[in-house]
Amino acid sequence: MGPGPSLVAPSVYAALARPTIGHLDPEFVRMMEEVKVMLRAVFQTTNPLTFPISGTGSAGMEFCCANLIEPGDEVIIGVNGVFGTRMVDVAERCGAKVTRVDAPWGQIIEPAQIREALTRVPRPKFIAIVHAETSTGALTPPVEIARLAREAGALFVLDAVTSLGGCPVEIDAWGVDAVYSGTQKCLSCPPGLSPVSLSPRALEVAARRQTKVQSWYLDVNLLSSYWGQERVYHHTAPINMNYALHEALRGVLIEGLEARFRRHEQCHQALRAGLAELGLEIVSQAGHQLWQLNAVGVPAGLDEAALRKRLLTEFGIEVGAGLGPLKGRIIRVGLMGETARPEHVARFLAALRVCLGHA
Ligand SMILES: Cc1ncc(COP(=O)(O)O)c(C=O)c1O
Repeated sequence: MGPGPSLVAPSVYAALARPTIGHLDPEFVRMMEEVKVMLRAVFQTTNPLTFPISGTGSAGMEFCCANLIEPGDEVIIGVNGVFGTRMVDVAERCGAKVTRVDAPWGQIIEPAQIREALTRVPRPKFIAIVHAETSTGALTPPVEIARLAREAGALFVLDAVTSLGGCPVEIDAWGVDAVYSGTQKCLSCPPGLSPVSLSPRALEVAARRQTKVQSWYLDVNLLSSYWGQERVYHHTAPINMNYALHEALRGVLIEGLEARFRRHEQCHQALRAGLAELGLEIVSQAGHQLWQLNAVGVPAGLDEAALRKRLLTEFGIEVGAGLGPLKGRIIRVGLMGETARPEHVARFLAALRVCLGHA
């Protein structure tokens, strides 16, 4: 019940254990096509270039930055937690001149802040935000910010590592040009792949570069030869992780996106109600709280590290610590994918009750 990895379904573990075949085997190639089709359904996009990068969520972040940024490009990045901060670092390493739009941790990035940044940097290459900030539990609405990006002639980049599969992510309807996610959050697969999707607009920007993509491994122009129709060897795909993702995506689509989102929302509401009975609350911005990652305020005087340790050692429940300015002030309770079940919420609340001396 931490910030990921989440629980993994037995069927996904079984898929991981299937015999490893070659990365150009016709059976594997067929499976790659199915993974692409299912990822498009989960991302709600028709983008042909939708596939999993070999690497965790941060590899998807690097993929977007490395392919879209050329040295000296201006970009605007919303920073309201650890992962916006990381994206600034990654973009700068790719040679971007980054304009940060900061919000206090736990709050969302407001469209007005982006509008103000555009008065200083009117023609950025892209505007990026973290949809679901796992470090704070805040869900920034992307639609208005996507519109501002489009009006400015910029691409819109979205970090959907924690949102995908746990709450609506609508790449085409929202006008997202580049999105990356991770397998180990609401898709409930082990960590190791980063599903990405690029719009035709973003692909054109990557194709028209004046300079080579600084990362050979993440160059979309090379990767698309393997994941597209040509099937040219680029690097050896992590075969078994792709089996696992295939099975996890099947699970998501069999359940149905709407039903899955409702399950996450209901678990969040049950957690919130149980916390209220214990005099506790979720501290991220009201009205913008994630269902899948709950930033629970720790009462003053309570040793947060000791609480987490007791939950783990006595009750077998892992939760996450606060990071940065929230260190010591919150615990992060994940309700992602397979973890988002009423019985887990109940078990957590019962354990918390004992730890807080309410039993
Ligand atoms: C919102 C967000 N972005 C990016 C990442 C980085 O993903 P990974 O740790 O899989 O590299 C994470 C991981 O927790 C995340 O929560």
